[in-house]
Amino acid sequence: TVTKRGDYTPPAYLVGTVDLRFDLDDTGVATRVSSKLVVHRNADAPSGEAPLVLNGDKEMKLVEGSLKVNGTALSADAFMVGPTGLTIPSVPSNGEFVVESTVEIAPSANKALEGLYMSGGNYCTQCEAEGFRRITYFPDRPDVMSVYTTTITGDKTLFPVLLSNGNCVESGDLEGGRHYVKYVDPWKKPSYLFAVVAGQLVSLDDEFVTCSGKTVTLRVWVRDGDLHKCGHAMAALKNAMKWDEDQYAREYDLDIFQILCVNDFNMGAMENKSLNVFNSKYVLASPETATDSDYNGISGVIAHEYFHNYSGNRVTCRSWFELTLKEGLTVFRDQCSAAEGPGAWTPPVVKRISDVTRLRSSQFPQDAGPMAHPIRPESYVEINNFYTATVYEKGACVVRMARTLLGKEGFRRGAELYFERHDGQAVTCDDWMKALVDANPHGPDMSQFMLWYSQAGTPTLTVGTTYDTSAGTLTLNVEQTVPATPGQPTKEPMHIPLAVGLIGPDGSAVPVDVEGTPAADTVVLSVRKHKESFVLRGVPDGTVPSLLRDFSAPVKLVREGGVDRLTTAFLMANDTDDFNRWEAAQTLGMDVILEYVSAREADASASFAPLSDGVIEAFRKTLRDERTDPSLRARVMVLPDEGYVAEQVTVADPLLIHEARDSVKKQLATALRADLEAVAAASAAATAGEYKIDPVSQGARALKNVCLQYLAALGESATLDKCLDTVRNGSNMTDVLAALGVLSNSPDCPQREAALSEFYSKWKDDYLVMVSWLRIQAMASRPTTLSAVKALMKHEAFDINNPNNVYAVVGGFAMANPVGFHSPPNGEAYVWLADVVLQLDKKNPQVAARMVSAFTRWRKYDATRQGVMKAQLERMRGTKGLSNDVFEICDKSVAA
Ligand code: ARG
Ligand code: ZN
Repeated sequence: TVTKRGDYTPPAYLVGTVDLRFDLDDTGVATRVSSKLVVHRNADAPSGEAPLVLNGDKEMKLVEGSLKVNGTALSADAFMVGPTGLTIPSVPSNGEFVVESTVEIAPSANKALEGLYMSGGNYCTQCEAEGFRRITYFPDRPDVMSVYTTTITGDKTLFPVLLSNGNCVESGDLEGGRHYVKYVDPWKKPSYLFAVVAGQLVSLDDEFVTCSGKTVTLRVWVRDGDLHKCGHAMAALKNAMKWDEDQYAREYDLDIFQILCVNDFNMGAMENKSLNVFNSKYVLASPETATDSDYNGISGVIAHEYFHNYSGNRVTCRSWFELTLKEGLTVFRDQCSAAEGPGAWTPPVVKRISDVTRLRSSQFPQDAGPMAHPIRPESYVEINNFYTATVYEKGACVVRMARTLLGKEGFRRGAELYFERHDGQAVTCDDWMKALVDANPHGPDMSQFMLWYSQAGTPTLTVGTTYDTSAGTLTLNVEQTVPATPGQPTKEPMHIPLAVGLIGPDGSAVPVDVEGTPAADTVVLSVRKHKESFVLRGVPDGTVPSLLRDFSAPVKLVREGGVDRLTTAFLMANDTDDFNRWEAAQTLGMDVILEYVSAREADASASFAPLSDGVIEAFRKTLRDERTDPSLRARVMVLPDEGYVAEQVTVADPLLIHEARDSVKKQLATALRADLEAVAAASAAATAGEYKIDPVSQGARALKNVCLQYLAALGESATLDKCLDTVRNGSNMTDVLAALGVLSNSPDCPQREAALSEFYSKWKDDYLVMVSWLRIQAMASRPTTLSAVKALMKHEAFDINNPNNVYAVVGGFAMANPVGFHSPPNGEAYVWLADVVLQLDKKNPQVAARMVSAFTRWRKYDATRQGVMKAQLERMRGTKGLSNDVFEICDKSVAA
């Protein structure tokens, strides 16, 4: 069944307070959950008779005689229980009434990891989006906000630690070796923020003193043995708390904030009120076991979940269609704190580059495929399918554009007004925008801007220029097109902030002077029409425009008349916007790769024309430019990824794209060999000594390892030996995994085998390191990886019930390894993936559905590949007992 945004109606009943009692059994086969709901009619809903409908999963067993209204047990004919819930047709018509029920559930059998489940012998919960209905009967929708009291009982030895949201108000022993705790969360919240935890856990404890002087207890709960890996997470949490105070005036609102770390988790983490639950990947780190990017992932996700305390929890979503209200805003907030906050791991531009790269490689394809949806979707079959790059990453871009248009001060005023005006409410994206607008009475008209919430598809901006020598004006002729997407054949022009700068012929900035805006080095033009021109005044001859600075809008920028490599190389060296220096390198790399691809497509025996000196020198110059931050130089050297290249062509040949990109890389490596060696040596010297994760150290390591990857492209055995030595003796996981990655991508050789097997013996007891080991092999860019992947899935390090394992092996192969996935003849890997999806779907539909994404761009490929992929989508779709999750993606993929 399809749920539509336009069908929203307010809930007929609200629940003021919820009183829950969990009686945990030792093995998770029969846990009892009793609930007592104080219910009343919603004054904002239409009046008149209305049945009380409570959601509830079919796995839940209602204990006979436990369903009561105002203390009286309901007879069997006074209510109906079905596979999706329970209906009481007649309830008291005035005032409050109390509904009680007790259900029995089996958390250990719950492999979907939604609701109450077990991970490593401990109990934990995941309720967003609709998991609470697997725990108890409840109006499980975010606009029903209640105050929760939770009592947990369990065996004292098996489950010494018992946690829930809010403050512990009572605890004690019970007979039979059991004990109990009682928690009260004073803040009203929707059911999706509920959490319960029980198990053998130890905590790293700390404190944070808030801006008003309140001391907050901070605890990170992990399994015994992991305590020494929590320090970075704790530091990140404190940085986030401070950032929210400084930037948004949000002070933490309880006396305690806790984080639980588990290995079995579908997503990254969850912002349950005061009791976040985290995938261990985003908590645990030590220099020996975690890479720089692992560390950065931890800071980012910790901040993200903490920021949800306001953007999500105190102000939540009216319905799941509004998901981007909390996710887009919160991603934007975590991006900013990582770029500018305490604990920033990079210069801001490099953080921006990684965010944009992520958007382009994961969101642009989605916007161009059968699952394209606006950041606020109009309908869904399964809401879990809409925790997407579009809702999250493009959603964050839309918040960023709003800030660009309103200015930083205006944006902050608006955000503060939003938090204050809607505190304790479940609201919509329109409420968000209204707060921004109300706080900026003299600000721009944002009505056209709202199209970003309703129109799917990545707009294309085509920009041409005309220069008038006598007037000294440069005219930008801008044309925007928004592509058709499923269900949206025609589009209106959008309001696109286009940040523009000018670089004079001598390489220095020329002020941008446009009518109506004060001249500045960077000016944001508001593009609002299908075709529009902007006249820039006082522009010297030979000046080059720098367009879409800092990626001011999530659009594809096309230069009329194609890429001019000379101008692009000029910008790469001279643009005063660092983001656009990187962008120029991407444009240059892309242009050469695409040239190779089309040459080969025109003539199957064509060889690639050698790289021009201009291109080589542009890369050499940046590589060696000591005034440029090493972390930026490292990024500049990374060519556009194969998936992003595939998006630029009509019919993608993944093997040809790989070959073309590889050729560029090898030619650069050959031409720049001495430079790469020199820079690698200098960077290695800069990273010698104790491992540090500050931006300078990370930048040096990144540059060193990028150089290594280029040098490895030359395929010399001395480099392979060096990599093997690093795998054996490297002092930190960043260097070790970089070396292991090089070897894993190499053709069969003794160094490769030794590295993979020695690494395994050394780290086999470290779960997260094993996830990396699995992923690196699944991503090996070799035509034979499918058979390796099949073997890995039988390896003792692999557990198909563990999402991280599946994402590493199945996801790493099908979604991040084009050569591996598309090489096997007759689409063998496609058939294999569909089999795996069907197997996963019986246990964990969310994880299964995420793997189907490898097929959603099936129309990008040649007829043979298309045929096999489509057949797999149809086969999956036609399978009996398929989940809604997998069905929706297969069905939409085939239909579009
Ligand atoms: N709200 C979480 C976050 O963004 C994501 C949880 C989504 N979980 C799910 N099963 N859909 O941090
Ligand atoms: Zn989130």
